[in-house]
Amino acid sequence: MTFRQTFNILICCVMCVVLNIVALVSSSMDPVIVSRSDWHAKPPKSIEVMANPVPYVVIHHSYLPPACFTTEECIKAMQWMQDLHQINNSWADIGYHFAVGGDGKAYEGRGWSRVGAHAPNYNSISIGICIIGDWRERLPPESQLTAVHQLIEMGVREGKIAEDYKLVGHKQVRDGTACPGEKLYSSIQSWPHFYKVPNPPPPRAQPAVITLKEDNRLKKRTALTGII
Ligand SMILES: *[C@@H]1O[C@H](CO)[C@@H](O)[C@H](O)[C@H]1NC(C)=O
Repeated sequence: MTFRQTFNILICCVMCVVLNIVALVSSSMDPVIVSRSDWHAKPPKSIEVMANPVPYVVIHHSYLPPACFTTEECIKAMQWMQDLHQINNSWADIGYHFAVGGDGKAYEGRGWSRVGAHAPNYNSISIGICIIGDWRERLPPESQLTAVHQLIEMGVREGKIAEDYKLVGHKQVRDGTACPGEKLYSSIQSWPHFYKVPNPPPPRAQPAVITLKEDNRLKKRTALTGII
């Protein structure tokens, strides 16, 4: 082996180690969280409390609205989705627990401890994360994916997501959807904790959920549905 070859291999090793350290350090950092008040969310019409830690993480794409790359655009995207879910779909609130923008920030939807409306049977046992954009034919930018990983890691550290969580794409737990888009779906299969849902999926326990209505009456609910 020539000196040059040896040198090139050495440089490759060093680069590889450096990149791994950068990846490790950045995924152990908390993402920038944009709170509901920061994106001017409307109040939820009702709230259902969810027990943590949850065993699943469900990955979505928004398809519409399209990808946003500035915080101003992403705030508009959040407001658009909240209107769609609250007004057009008559749901209590934006369906997702969080959405992540192309600005590399995580936007608070229902947050860690409220039942979502993003995947029937999984709404009360998962954190639903929408990666804003249409990811059928291309992948989100690296910074957007890093924020998703940071958000999941934060959830695990704070006891909101189980340490042995299972990560799935929306289409694995719902028939008739291509969400989170073909390209993104093939990518998440190499993410930590990706779970190949058996076909047919195992029946889901339907935990009783306490509903806190505006009048503060307590009401038991079981079946929770949501379609995106
Ligand atoms: C939501 O409803 C509004 C008003 O009715 C309508 O203009 C809009 O097209 C709807 N949005 C979608 C995505 O269906």
